[in-house]
Amino acid sequence: MDKILEVKNLTVGYGNTPVVQNASMTLHKGEIVGLVGESGCGKSTFLRTLMMLTDENAHIMSGTITFENKNLADMTEEQLRLIRGQDISMVFQNSAEACNPVQTIGYHFWETMNCHGEKHSKKECNKKVAELLKQLRLQKPERILKSYPFELSGGMNQRVGIALAMINNPKLILADEPTSALDVTVQMQVLREMYDLKKEFQTAIVLVTHSIGVVAGLCDTVGVMYGGHIVEWGSCEDLLSHPYHPYTKALIEAVPTESGKDPKGIPGMPPDFGTSMPGCPFAPRCARASSQCKKEMPKQIDITDKHRVWCWHLEDNGGGK
Ligand SMILES: Nc1ncnc2c1ncn2[C@@H]1O[C@H](COP(=O)(O)OP(=O)(O)OP(=O)(O)O)[C@@H](O)[C@H]1O
Ligand SMILES: [Mg+2]
Repeated sequence: MDKILEVKNLTVGYGNTPVVQNASMTLHKGEIVGLVGESGCGKSTFLRTLMMLTDENAHIMSGTITFENKNLADMTEEQLRLIRGQDISMVFQNSAEACNPVQTIGYHFWETMNCHGEKHSKKECNKKVAELLKQLRLQKPERILKSYPFELSGGMNQRVGIALAMINNPKLILADEPTSALDVTVQMQVLREMYDLKKEFQTAIVLVTHSIGVVAGLCDTVGVMYGGHIVEWGSCEDLLSHPYHPYTKALIEAVPTESGKDPKGIPGMPPDFGTSMPGCPFAPRCARASSQCKKEMPKQIDITDKHRVWCWHLEDNGGGK
């Protein structure tokens, strides 16, 4: 498979505080990667950095982000502008971020479709957009195109954000909880549209989600984040059926099952980024943590050539079961 994005040892901080640490990942054409982890673990920061669209106080402390053999971290704003919206697009966690409040929805699509010198007429744009909006289960697309963002509900704006990210058939879509504001029935429909897009155009997608169910149903690969670190990475099939990291296991056990068994919560609190800790970020909440875990960050262990995990105690934590 063709590699489209390679992130190596990426550390991103706000001020002097790193919140994404030493993260590496590889993404291929047509691959969907799911990123999961508790609130505040750094998923949005990581995702936004992949498109160099972080908040002003964020900065890359080390590492590279290689998209089609070019390091995005070295590019000028002008070079990045040519890539954004055309080759890489983003669905924001907060849909309002995608839109300018004083422009109509139709204008946003027209601008996105023409932003790299193409000349699509308004009529041509509206026809293509109306089709996509219908596929995303938005009724009366003509009316939506004439509306301003504030005239639409949160769920509608979210679907507009997804459509804006999809309209130019980019090579890579970065989607930050794209469906969390939607009703469950519409959620599945919208995810299916994204899946079909991947099938048809070999679009690669990085999808941040809280739902292990969404990961299982949609993703090829899954990355588990904890405290700014990727602690386990592997194919969905492998990782969900044979999780190794105690945190991954806890996340999977926290999913309610059909048998009605009570889901287990994860005791303790997520780490506070302000206090620097030398060891494994999960150690303070891990039942098997030893003094080594508290002192030293685990090394990468390769279970297979794709499945890797960062934990000192694989042999005695029932790894893979
Ligand atoms: N602009 C900012 N300045 C300073 N700290 C920030 C900023 N944005 C986020 N953070 C902090 O960085 C950490 C990671 O935040 P991030 O939004 O990346 O997490 P997340 O995994 O996306 O969480 P959620 O699931 O709630 O969306 C958090 O502690 C957050 O408070
Ligand atoms: Mg987030």
